[in-house]
Amino acid sequence: MIDRLTVDKILDAANIVDVVSDFVTLKRAGANLKGLCPFHDDRTPSFMVSPSKNICKCFACGKGGTPVHFIMEHEQLSYPDALRYLAKKYHIEVKEREQTDEEKAEQSERESLFAVNEWANEWFQAQMNDTVDGRAIGLAYFRQRGFRDDIIKKFQLGFCPDKFDAQWQAGIAAGYNGDYLLKTGLCIRNDQSGKTYDRFRNRVIFPIHTVSGKVVGFGGRVLDSRTKGVQVKYQNSPESSIYSKKRELYGLYLAKQAIVKNELCYLVEGYTDVMAMHQMGVENVVASSGTALTAEQIHAIHRFTENIVVIYDGDAAGIKASQRGIDLLLAEGMNVKLLLLPDGDDPDSFARKHTSTEYQEYLREHQVDFIHFKTDLLLQEAQNDPIKLSRLVNNIVQSLSVIPDDITRTFYIKETAHTLDMDERLITSAVAKVRKQQREDRQKQKERERLSAERGGAAAPSGAESQASGPVDGAEAGGSQVSVAPEDDEVPEALSVDEITRARNGNSTQSQLSTTKNDLQFLQTEALLVQMIVRHGEKVMCDVEDEETGAERPMTVVEYIQYALEADELQLRSPLHRQILTEALEHYREEGFRCDRYFENHPDIAVSNLANELAHDPETLSKIHSKGAVVKPEEERLLELVPHVMTDYKLAIVDESLRNIMLELRKPETMADKELSTSLLKRYQEMKQVQRDLGKQCGDRVIQ
Ligand code: CTP
Ligand code: MN
Repeated sequence: MIDRLTVDKILDAANIVDVVSDFVTLKRAGANLKGLCPFHDDRTPSFMVSPSKNICKCFACGKGGTPVHFIMEHEQLSYPDALRYLAKKYHIEVKEREQTDEEKAEQSERESLFAVNEWANEWFQAQMNDTVDGRAIGLAYFRQRGFRDDIIKKFQLGFCPDKFDAQWQAGIAAGYNGDYLLKTGLCIRNDQSGKTYDRFRNRVIFPIHTVSGKVVGFGGRVLDSRTKGVQVKYQNSPESSIYSKKRELYGLYLAKQAIVKNELCYLVEGYTDVMAMHQMGVENVVASSGTALTAEQIHAIHRFTENIVVIYDGDAAGIKASQRGIDLLLAEGMNVKLLLLPDGDDPDSFARKHTSTEYQEYLREHQVDFIHFKTDLLLQEAQNDPIKLSRLVNNIVQSLSVIPDDITRTFYIKETAHTLDMDERLITSAVAKVRKQQREDRQKQKERERLSAERGGAAAPSGAESQASGPVDGAEAGGSQVSVAPEDDEVPEALSVDEITRARNGNSTQSQLSTTKNDLQFLQTEALLVQMIVRHGEKVMCDVEDEETGAERPMTVVEYIQYALEADELQLRSPLHRQILTEALEHYREEGFRCDRYFENHPDIAVSNLANELAHDPETLSKIHSKGAVVKPEEERLLELVPHVMTDYKLAIVDESLRNIMLELRKPETMADKELSTSLLKRYQEMKQVQRDLGKQCGDRVIQ
């Protein structure tokens, strides 16, 4: 851990022009500088650097950000590593936070395990390349499968000889502690006989690297091509303090540059699939290694791209099983496409039948989005069977409902409606229904957890978020994957067979506007509130009387915003906005904490980008308050500005609910229901009153 002061020093020192100039030739362009974008194939200089804002951005591909984000993206480093990189550049001594004894012990164990793995990786390769048996058995096996020598070398493949404890002996002789040979799982001790033997004997070896290239484990395959017998085809390293199966993705280390460059990642099943694709010239590929995809793995991919193509061998059981994986990808905000290989082929066997040009062409031409994939797969048989059709539609509705981004979701709903030739509104409302159900389920789950926590019992994990902070010995690679689709057979019915049949016949009722535009407007209003947090969150706005002591105490902007929202039981709607509020509340008390610096340099690029936009946007506020002739700096007007922005926000909410009530009132079913329409009217009147009251607070608004 780098300590806070050092981080601040680095952030203060890092100059965007300096940092970018190491990689891009920049020319002056007015107040800014520009050059060719290093992140895409740029012909005209689209990459702008703003010295005053200390950020950069490509106007063609959108990449860029603070100096730290530029380095993260360009060098493919994690946030802390990018900070270390910059520290080196600016000769800043990195003070790592003092570790506890426990942390130190764990740290040194981790380092030792990495060292042992690194040694083992070299040893396996030497066994294969430099021994008679290794060449005749191991190397011959890979060559016979059609892998070229450069690919074998690139993937650092190796071989473990067919001796009881050759590796154990070699490791001990090389001076490695036996404990670590056991903890990495390279060797196994039989408790009864006390003898130690090699886990991977007589197997070919695939080392597994972390995203930064450290070896965390190995996969070992039996040599026999007939794998049907008693032997397990693959033996893998067990979980250890350095290896968590649910976090690692095979091939990511070798793929990351290509993923960024192509803005796309292929996902396959196995080690050999990844290798075969590299051999075919496709390097942006990773493997889930035969287990279900986890949220952690998706996050790892998401760091490099939003776009993923999942490749299936045409086996229907596999496709069904991966249903959850697809929904999980959608839920993480990825753009998901799928690709089906012809009967029985996997990416590896398919490679052996085609040239690399054919291969790449096939990949390009056969990817389809998840809706078309599901419909193509199921529609033919479902066409005339209303029950199957209803299943298919509900299955797609389920996938749609987990997409977090409103605009993307709306887009896919349109696609679905078009593909299935159904009324868009019907799907919209079905998706809304499922989302509501999901929210309620989450709420209930939270409630249950709270109750059981109060009772002192162990809370049932919600699974909505990964809770594992470290690997658990022997834990299976399951990972966190809840809040997405249930098994195929139990897809909840958001739409009944009847509804779907009727909709497909085209006789459903009209009405309702697209809400997307209003939603966007609303979010813009919400962003103004968040802008106040980003710019001034930690600053004192006024003094208030403490409820308990009666003494005066200063109140900061972020506290005020939190109180004002709580007073009306409001919650910010955008998850990104909520995150900013939450983190500001967590930190504002810290000595020297500044919201602007904190959020502009936030490790999460989405937060950082938004914060930079909000912090430097000169327009928004003057738009609201351009009346006064002499404009004092914002800092001096917080007491006037912040409550004003808050009132505007509340007005936007009221406006929206008035609109919704109106829509409800106009529906024929509402008109037919006397009781409902009376209560809606009453609610309308109340909202109108709130609107008038808020308007008065604003003072400068006229509302009849
Ligand atoms: N796998 C495993 N243990 C097994 C079988 C499979 O760990 N007993 C994992 C491996 O990571 C493997 C992936 O699941 O790479 C996919 O399995 P499969 O398609 O059977 O293996 P391939 O990699 O295609 O291996 P091969 O082509 O050599 O059969
Ligand atoms: Mn295979």
